[in-house]
Amino acid sequence: MELPAIPGRDAVGVVDEVGEGVQDTVVGDRVFGLGGVTGATAELALLSARAQAPATWSDEESAGAGLASVTALGGLKVLGPLPGRTLLIEGAAGGVGSAAAEIALAHGATVIGTAGEHDHAFLAELGAIPTTYGSGLARRVAALAPQGVDCAFDTAASGSLDDLVAITGAPTRVSTIADHANARRLGTHLVNAVNDPALLDAAAELGRQGRYTPRIERTYPLERIAEAHARAERGRTRGKIVIRI
Ligand SMILES: NC(=O)c1ccc[n+]([C@@H]2O[C@H](COP(=O)([O-])OP(=O)(O)OC[C@H]3O[C@@H](n4cnc5c(N)ncnc54)[C@H](OP(=O)(O)O)[C@@H]3O)[C@@H](O)[C@H]2O)c1
Repeated sequence: MELPAIPGRDAVGVVDEVGEGVQDTVVGDRVFGLGGVTGATAELALLSARAQAPATWSDEESAGAGLASVTALGGLKVLGPLPGRTLLIEGAAGGVGSAAAEIALAHGATVIGTAGEHDHAFLAELGAIPTTYGSGLARRVAALAPQGVDCAFDTAASGSLDDLVAITGAPTRVSTIADHANARRLGTHLVNAVNDPALLDAAAELGRQGRYTPRIERTYPLERIAEAHARAERGRTRGKIVIRI
């Protein structure tokens, strides 16, 4: 990354200007999406991938939707078809985890999600079956899913990939977006976000249907962006932190 850099990968905004040859967007459209890896926390941002923001999402939700949804969709895609299958999500209440939970439920999966107890009611409201993370996970999951777990998506990098492979029966049934070293050691899928407008469209369509609402922890005005970064660095957020400009 070249410094100095403007932070931020996701954004929502109203289109001011379109380049020659652009056909699917007009001035005045409210679009959300991804800049590069940086550059999105700005009054004027160029998005490398965008989609129409659904009217069902607030500006804050639309601003936080891009990276979480493309990462969730990427992490789920490598696990194969979802209808009728049982999926375990580690870190299911976070920005990516809650997106994955809602998307998988919308596709007809049964979802078991790990989260701290403070988030169990939130997960149950989404339609997922909550459980706690940490030691004894296999035992808790076996009690919740006597039919077995078909696949697992790790968003927490808590060191549980060995457990997820044991629970599902094979490394190819497990994906992670955060635990690089263990993914390489075990041969699970390791997924990185792709700035793909087709994925944003898919997430927005679920938003229009009321089946996916991006989770927002808190919104800060631009003047307090340092506070927002300090909050993000402390971790244990419940969804995305949004900067309002
Ligand atoms: N590869 C990529 O392209 C990509 C893209 C986006 C994000 N990421 C990475 O993916 C991770 C998740 O991102 P996010 O935006 O969803 O973060 P987030 O909103 O902060 O969510 C993280 C979640 O993990 C849970 N958690 C914490 N410790 C845990 C543990 N020991 N076991 C299970 N769950 C635990 C937290 O739940 P509690 O509050 O209940 O503890 C929280 O809900 C981050 O590491 C991020 O850097 C990677």
